[in-house]
Amino acid sequence: MKKNTSQFYRIIPFLFCLVTFASQANLSFEKIILNEITKMYMSSMTFIFLNQPLINQKGGNKEALFGDKFIDNIKATYQQKHNEEFPLLDHKLKQLLVQSMVEVMEDNKMLFNDEDIGFKGIIPAIFAAQLSAKLATKGIGLKIKFTRTKEDIRNVLNIPDQWESKVMAKIIEKPEIYYDEQAIINDKPAYRQFTPLPMAPYCLKCHGSMEHNPLNAGKDKEEWTNIDMTGFEMENWTLNDFGGGVSISIEKSVLE
Ligand code: HEC
Repeated sequence: MKKNTSQFYRIIPFLFCLVTFASQANLSFEKIILNEITKMYMSSMTFIFLNQPLINQKGGNKEALFGDKFIDNIKATYQQKHNEEFPLLDHKLKQLLVQSMVEVMEDNKMLFNDEDIGFKGIIPAIFAAQLSAKLATKGIGLKIKFTRTKEDIRNVLNIPDQWESKVMAKIIEKPEIYYDEQAIINDKPAYRQFTPLPMAPYCLKCHGSMEHNPLNAGKDKEEWTNIDMTGFEMENWTLNDFGGGVSISIEKSVLE
């Protein structure tokens, strides 16, 4: 299992790469913020993905996962992914997002430093869900969600709302960023954006079928399991399936 896990993390092509974002030159202030926050959120997922060996390591120095060091690492990840500087933290939403990232890692500190547990289960999707939940507690009119079409949803908190379902139905054949400046959330006018996440071969290790499951490597077919390394039933997705995406909403009053 150890060997397979390390093989898994060696596959690092276009990690959590998003569809291309438009250049900022002609964008409105609102759209720039939505884009920046989406990219910040996704960069933190990428960093969590890249650092699974460190996260799951028993013991050792894990300072890179906490506090300012953690944020510096996310900034570097952002820069590498998007070939541009990490956004200035010149708006309270961006500041609170960064603060929430640090808090989520702090919440998991005992787990990360546990010397007996190997696989800690803090994969990008779990980190993203915890980050979304943390933001929700701040009551700041910013909501971020990692979601997908209703069937096959693993975490009920990720179930799409009506807007998200409608948008996904529209773009599922040809995934592209969908922006809506006339949306409503919690009965309040809001800016909303859905950014699809393309499928990549490594997604299949958990969401694919049994032959992709690293837990089955080197085993006879009769012994194969359709439970992935995170304990969920695999969904048999293929590379041609829809990978879901990041949905972000900001209440208009927050940006006024
Ligand atoms: C290591 C296993 C693993 C890998 C690899 C993985 N996922 Fe997931 N994924 C999960 C788990 C576990 C959850 C549920 C997280 C939670 O509790 O919110 C999840 C949740 C999701 C969700 C949110 C909706 C839901 O079902 O709760 C989407 C969308 C998703 N994954 C897409 C992807 C895509 C696309 C990739 C590749 C880019 C990928 N995943 C790679 C394990 C994985």
